[in-house]
Amino acid sequence: MKNPIVIAIDGTSASGKSTNAKLVAAALGFVYVDTGAMYRTLAWYCLKRNIDFHDAKAVASACRRWKTKLECVDNRVRLVVDAYHPEKEIRTADVSVAVSMVATVPKVRDWMKQTQRDCIQFGNLVMEGRDIGTNVFPETDYKYYLDAHLEERTKRRAAEGVNENLAARDQRDSQRAAAPLMIALGAKVINNSNLTPEQTSAMLLDDIRKRMVEVGAGR
Ligand code: DC
Repeated sequence: MKNPIVIAIDGTSASGKSTNAKLVAAALGFVYVDTGAMYRTLAWYCLKRNIDFHDAKAVASACRRWKTKLECVDNRVRLVVDAYHPEKEIRTADVSVAVSMVATVPKVRDWMKQTQRDCIQFGNLVMEGRDIGTNVFPETDYKYYLDAHLEERTKRRAAEGVNENLAARDQRDSQRAAAPLMIALGAKVINNSNLTPEQTSAMLLDDIRKRMVEVGAGR
């Protein structure tokens, strides 16, 4: 493949990034990448090894040394650690607390950026996160930013059985020095407070197809 396409979907927590990125990836036959899962995997690894996640140096050192591999299974990228793919383990409340600390460490963000860029080996991508359009693939023509009102996002998380202070997490994600959550230049912003995932993904796909024609993708 000459120039794989990367669709960058960033946004606040519980703004529907995962649901919509998966729908868009399935509709286009692209590979889905959840970059939050990669940060969560490092947070889980630190907790498991008793590495103090408040200690930026210790976290950076763990990230330099851990033995990882990228795999693509069923059109989804996974980060395998010591030949193990943690899935449920990275969704616990403890990991959710640790992850936003881990994600502030500049050396960790450098490692993640490189690893996430390496996903291009698997072909066309739909990649969701917080800094994909601003930092990981700033050159892509396909940038999207999802958001929804705080009350609606809190309801969505509660429906998943998770009670989380999303305002605090948004603040930590937006105010960190290294690659904070921002709307990328040229990104299409979609506030989906009153939209279903089907409506949101249809809007995304419509815009993606328009942009593909504009940039002459596939030629
Ligand atoms: O999307 P998520 O809730 O699984 O993300 C977990 C944390 O990782 C979130 O607090 C922000 C951080 N993150 C990030 O800083 N950059 C990304 N590209 C993806 C996630």
